[in-house]
Amino acid sequence: MKSIIILLQEKIEKAFIDCGYDSIYGKVINSNRPDLCEFQCDGALAAAKKYKKAPFIIAEEVVSKCKNCEEFEKIEVIKPGFININISENFLTNYCNSIINEEKFGCKMEKNKTVIIDYGGANIAKPLHVGHLRPAVIGESIKRIHRFFENKVIGDVHLGDWGLQMGLVIEELKFRHPDWDYFNENFNGEYPKEALFTVTDLEEIYPCASRKTKVDENATEEEKEKANTYRENARKNTAYLQEKKKGYYDLWKKIVEISVEDLKENYKKLDVDFDLWLGESDSQEYVEPMVQKMKKLGILYESNGAMVVDVQEPNDTTQINPCMVLKTGGVSCYQTTDLATLMQRQSDFNPDEIIYVVDKRQELHFIQVFRCAKKSDIINKNSKLIFIGLGTVNGKDGKPFKSRDGGVMRLENLIAEVNQKVYEKMNASKEMKEEEKIEISKIVGLAALKYADLSNQISKDYIFDIDKFTSFEGKTGPYILYTLVRIKSILNKFYEKNTLKENKILKPKEDIEKQILLKISKYSQILEESYIENAPSKICTYLYELAEVFNSYYQKIKILQENFDRLDSNIVLLSLMKRIFENGIYLLGFKAPERM
Ligand code: ARG
Repeated sequence: MKSIIILLQEKIEKAFIDCGYDSIYGKVINSNRPDLCEFQCDGALAAAKKYKKAPFIIAEEVVSKCKNCEEFEKIEVIKPGFININISENFLTNYCNSIINEEKFGCKMEKNKTVIIDYGGANIAKPLHVGHLRPAVIGESIKRIHRFFENKVIGDVHLGDWGLQMGLVIEELKFRHPDWDYFNENFNGEYPKEALFTVTDLEEIYPCASRKTKVDENATEEEKEKANTYRENARKNTAYLQEKKKGYYDLWKKIVEISVEDLKENYKKLDVDFDLWLGESDSQEYVEPMVQKMKKLGILYESNGAMVVDVQEPNDTTQINPCMVLKTGGVSCYQTTDLATLMQRQSDFNPDEIIYVVDKRQELHFIQVFRCAKKSDIINKNSKLIFIGLGTVNGKDGKPFKSRDGGVMRLENLIAEVNQKVYEKMNASKEMKEEEKIEISKIVGLAALKYADLSNQISKDYIFDIDKFTSFEGKTGPYILYTLVRIKSILNKFYEKNTLKENKILKPKEDIEKQILLKISKYSQILEESYIENAPSKICTYLYELAEVFNSYYQKIKILQENFDRLDSNIVLLSLMKRIFENGIYLLGFKAPERM
């Protein structure tokens, strides 16, 4: 099935051809002036230049070929040469009726492309904070959209588990517990099964260790020396870890285990899940073969002790520094693990596409890594590597959103705050039991959080405004859910006493009914666009617009009080809308409660 705009376009293209013009001028778009028409084609203006004819004449010729087409209710030329189109009610109604039985709403399926989505990006021994919201929420939605189009999609959290932060945590544990068997070179027994620390300990340890490596300008020589030694030891620990040195490696495994358990729980609260829980460390075995490959190609060279590959390209307008493949002493760095992971992904999945959903401040890193990977042939030449750079979630001061005490905002607390806000708003409805209210405020809270995040442009920073996001009116998650819940309750009321006799939508009687059908008919186009452009925000906008038309319809039409034949049609229309809303919010990554 084709999207409705394409069907209209095909008619107009044919008319252009029949008049002796190229079909490229037949492009149909949504109307810029909904008060004048529903669709338009501006091609005659461009064709006029090519064929050296007045645009008005071309448009008139084209329109005369379309006069008897069943698709159009009205097709006319507006000076200087716009073609304004209204769709016929018959054609529109038939189109919507055909979507009723289409599981995919008439979208064209891509099928069988292998796509890896690298999102989440959590780090071991550090709690998820507000900066992890967007990669998780946007990545999850993009994953669901790609899956909807029947691709083979693999979501990977790509844990940060191999860098200096691990060496720091180990150094601080060693400082506090020098007696642990992990640090005893001569120890030959079994290390403790139960962890000797909790995730809360780890969360306190990392910032403490990190602080110990820093000194301010007024520090004494002795303090500077101490910080240096600490940092140097952390670096050594990281190297030990990467060599899988006994004790250090075992301790690290425990840290990862405890951390991952906690991360899984936190992602679950966000309704975000991953097919793979791999980390930087899992690519380690690919580092050596990768380095060999680069050496063989003659592109790897030494620079200040590190091993690098040039990635500058002739058309660059700025300088792109060489990509560091190994740090001094052969230690892995952020680029190393991302490159080796590409080699691993190539070998495990031979992907057509890898999409990275990461903070936009990491763009340069990914430019270097992608170029280096292509140059060194560790990833298929035809694989598309896509970086989706995310803007920051800011507070009203324009700086990254902080907790009330001015510290980093933990994701857990952010979710709790949003849920609390929704709960307070729900308190007005008294007849609900306390437990149900809490349960519903979690579902609605998550919708508020995710919708706000997804509806903002991906690369732009946005201001986190709890009051606005949790409002039951306007372009918000709760408003969408509220509309869906209203539709569901009307349907329930109908089915309590009736059964459906005919599964068919009738031709619209009122203008608002046509408006709804028009919106519905465009869903497949929106899905295809959001898929091709990796833009869940298109679904957000669409659902909001659909909710708006539905709510006007609801004001105008007595849905359940119509006479017999229209009653069934209304129910079929509502069921289709329900299915669209449910599909849309699923693709965005949230659910609706039964009532709210
Ligand atoms: N762990 C990284 C960070 O917190 C994000 C990882 C993004 N993905 C990647 N393949 N580098 O900055």
